[in-house]
Amino acid sequence: MSLDRRRFLTELGKSGGALAAGSWLSRIGYAQVSRGPARALINPTRYRSELDRRVLGAFLEHLGRAIYTGVYEPGSPKADANGFRTDVIAEMKALGVPIMRYPGGNFVSGYNWLDGVGPKKERPTVLERAWNSLETNQFGTNEFIEWCRLVDTEPLLAFNLGTGTPEMGVAYVEYCNVEKGTKWSELRRSHGHQQPHNVRYWCLGNEMDGPWQIGHMPAREYGRKARDTARQIRVIDRSLQLIACGSSNTIMPTYLEWDREVLEECYDQVDGISLHNYYGNTPPQTGGSTARYLALNLDMERQIHEIAAVCDYVQALRKSPKRLWLSFDEWNVWYRARGGPFADGKGTFAPRLLEEVYNLEDALLVGGFVNTLLRQSDRVRIGCLAQILNVIAPLVTNETSVLRQSIYYPYAWALKYARGRVLDLTVESETYPIVATGLRPDVARDDQVPFVDVAATHDPKTGQASVLMLNRDLESERELVLEWRDTTPTRVLACETLTAQDLKAFNTFEQPKQVVPRALEPPKVGSRMAFKLPARSYSVAHIATS
Ligand code: AHR
Repeated sequence: MSLDRRRFLTELGKSGGALAAGSWLSRIGYAQVSRGPARALINPTRYRSELDRRVLGAFLEHLGRAIYTGVYEPGSPKADANGFRTDVIAEMKALGVPIMRYPGGNFVSGYNWLDGVGPKKERPTVLERAWNSLETNQFGTNEFIEWCRLVDTEPLLAFNLGTGTPEMGVAYVEYCNVEKGTKWSELRRSHGHQQPHNVRYWCLGNEMDGPWQIGHMPAREYGRKARDTARQIRVIDRSLQLIACGSSNTIMPTYLEWDREVLEECYDQVDGISLHNYYGNTPPQTGGSTARYLALNLDMERQIHEIAAVCDYVQALRKSPKRLWLSFDEWNVWYRARGGPFADGKGTFAPRLLEEVYNLEDALLVGGFVNTLLRQSDRVRIGCLAQILNVIAPLVTNETSVLRQSIYYPYAWALKYARGRVLDLTVESETYPIVATGLRPDVARDDQVPFVDVAATHDPKTGQASVLMLNRDLESERELVLEWRDTTPTRVLACETLTAQDLKAFNTFEQPKQVVPRALEPPKVGSRMAFKLPARSYSVAHIATS
């Protein structure tokens, strides 16, 4: 323990803060304090991980209006010669998403990738069975790769292990990645793509534990199918990064057991396992309490620890030198436009599905998720905000423009500012209680939640730090004192906050500025910087250091 840290902890003791052994808070670097401002010890030489920015990725599925009339709308005044919406491209470029998962989601488990390649007029229109929609296949893998290049994102492709066979999954990898001289690589070349796409990250199916999934199967069966497919893919390229399907969420009756059994079958052949979860301010998840809602990112944090523990268990069991990483490749708030008519396309083309409208409290929680993913980025290598456009998304199109929903802003800040290393902060904050009574078992716990949730990065190359701060206090401003060690802040480069009077405020095409960032008064620069975080807010500071 360094002297600085010892001094800080001693002071923490004096102020009433304590790192209770075994408490959940202590595991993520938090201590509870009975009164006074929140404090964070920030020392660029103490870091959790080099930030792999893929943890800030997103997801684009053939679902609703995500692709058709979102990404791709030939005939629109906004479309380029390829039919790609240029206003969407501009938004995506401005966001700078590092990796994009495609084409599903539930969609992928019934998808025949061959339907979506080759001359467009020869592509079949099919009935898509995950969302009961009409799929024209006018946008497919090659269009997606072209679009990725335009918006400067890396593709993360999933292939079908529902109705799909290992043979066709491997063929897809060959189609995309082998340069030439084989059946499937020559097919790609005949489709006008001479160079391979070189896709590095692959999902071996989607949510195969879910009874709703096309081709749903027992864990061991899926594990063997994934292993067989992965082993064949390794013949094409040993270095590809392969992600097995983990549990779809924490309320699955097979949660953790599914992951263990799958990994017992395919551990040696895969590199990562997927985690998914969607959250809502619903009676079962929060009892309708916004205070509980804003703590759900700590449940995400717990899920990460639990799945990591299963990975480590199987690693030890197999005496494997390989440590798996996690791919949290679907996460978001999603609870209003869910199920029933919101999920049934009624056999139509580009139906309005899952068009969730996001408010301020959703944005604050998304900020919390961003903090959690950054904090856990030593283990979570990929994260995908699900989804990116029109469907449970920060960006929404109408015929002529793109709207930024409230959840856009915390995500955009992380993308803009989080660089370099994720710092290992020691934080003390006053807490508030949450209670288990009446909640769904996976989130039912009596606990203490810090009012202030903070994550930070520091880039040694530029000396710039970013600090992302959630104030869960719904009524009052909270002070957060940053105590810098081993570096001196020299200038605040940016300081903004997202808040509003009304937690339920949201943006519309008519009123797009109900929930937008505003400037936050930057504190005096020095080794002790006191931020005044407005009630119910998420804030960012970008700080130059020497
Ligand atoms: O993102 C929406 C859906 O949620 C995805 O298709 C599926 O994987 C998950 O259940």
